[in-house]
Amino acid sequence: MIVFGIETSCDDTSFAVVENGVKILSNIISSQEIHKEYGGVVPELASREHIRNILYVYERGISEAGVSLKDADGIAVTNRPGLIVSLLVGLNFAKGLAFGSGKPFVGVNHTLAHVYSNHLSETPPEFPYVCLILSGGHTILGNVRSYTDMEIIGQTRDDAIGEAFDKVSKFLGLGYPGGPVIEKLAKDGDPDKTTFPIPRFKEPSLDFSYSGLKTAVLNFYRTNPGIKKEDLAAGFQKTAVKILLNNLSSYLEIHNTKRIAVTGGVSANNYLRTEFRRFCDERNLSLFLPEKKLCTDNAAMIAGLGTRLLESGKSSGLSLDAVSRGLN
Ligand code: KG4
Ligand code: ZN
Repeated sequence: MIVFGIETSCDDTSFAVVENGVKILSNIISSQEIHKEYGGVVPELASREHIRNILYVYERGISEAGVSLKDADGIAVTNRPGLIVSLLVGLNFAKGLAFGSGKPFVGVNHTLAHVYSNHLSETPPEFPYVCLILSGGHTILGNVRSYTDMEIIGQTRDDAIGEAFDKVSKFLGLGYPGGPVIEKLAKDGDPDKTTFPIPRFKEPSLDFSYSGLKTAVLNFYRTNPGIKKEDLAAGFQKTAVKILLNNLSSYLEIHNTKRIAVTGGVSANNYLRTEFRRFCDERNLSLFLPEKKLCTDNAAMIAGLGTRLLESGKSSGLSLDAVSRGLN
């Protein structure tokens, strides 16, 4: 089964061709540079860039995969959650392909597609498993029971972890997206030159909070302007990951889980990957991490989850709308 995937929910324009929900025949990602000067994504500019890029990524994707529209068994597209003006570009492009070819068409949830990126592998996790979705918009601890069924156990009450990387980077004048810049800087820094508090809630909770950490880092920089940015980045990154592992550890005190998966843009971070590997090895847990290219936004995960939806008989009508929020 060959499925075309289209992703335009934020600032990456992506098109992929995936065979049988696992084999990536092509996965073209065009990342928008234009937002760098604004320190964050400007929706209207993102939408215009998607319009400029979508045909290009499609044509390159089918050519790299060696297929044409008639070879597709279905078209999958992100229709939620995301920036409406961005989603609409991919959604309408996908509708055009589906209408013109008469192929089945299905809307895919972006967040669950991130979870699916761990299934674009020869050795995917078996259900159920615990998954952390770490992106610019989400910090979720979920119990994944099937491709489309995830119980949310904890989530951020304020900023997402990726958002915290982006905000700290913007404040330090390091540009957007912040994650890769902070990671690079932190390599040359000493994480123990600073200590930042781990958030605690009044009641027992597996939720996350990153707004306090972001503010603590900014305040530290204001009151210690002589601190090396490398040390600050390393201290921030260490605490950001510690918050995740503390929560996971609390979850494991009450629940018996053998499989942990991590996904989303922040899971591309090498420090995070090493710390999770150590944590899981010490506890004899299997850890699943997507290939780095599949951590950040990409259309292969959309085509993959789309394949599973189409296989189970689900499809969408051409009246499908773009939705800004929500898991299902
Ligand atoms: O999953 P994603 O590509 O888009 C959303 O769905 O939000 O995640 C983007 C987020 C951004 O906040 C970016 O700074 C962060 O992932 N990110 C990273 C790294 N690469 C991307 N954060 C930490 N370390 C990285 N290497
Ligand atoms: Zn994403």
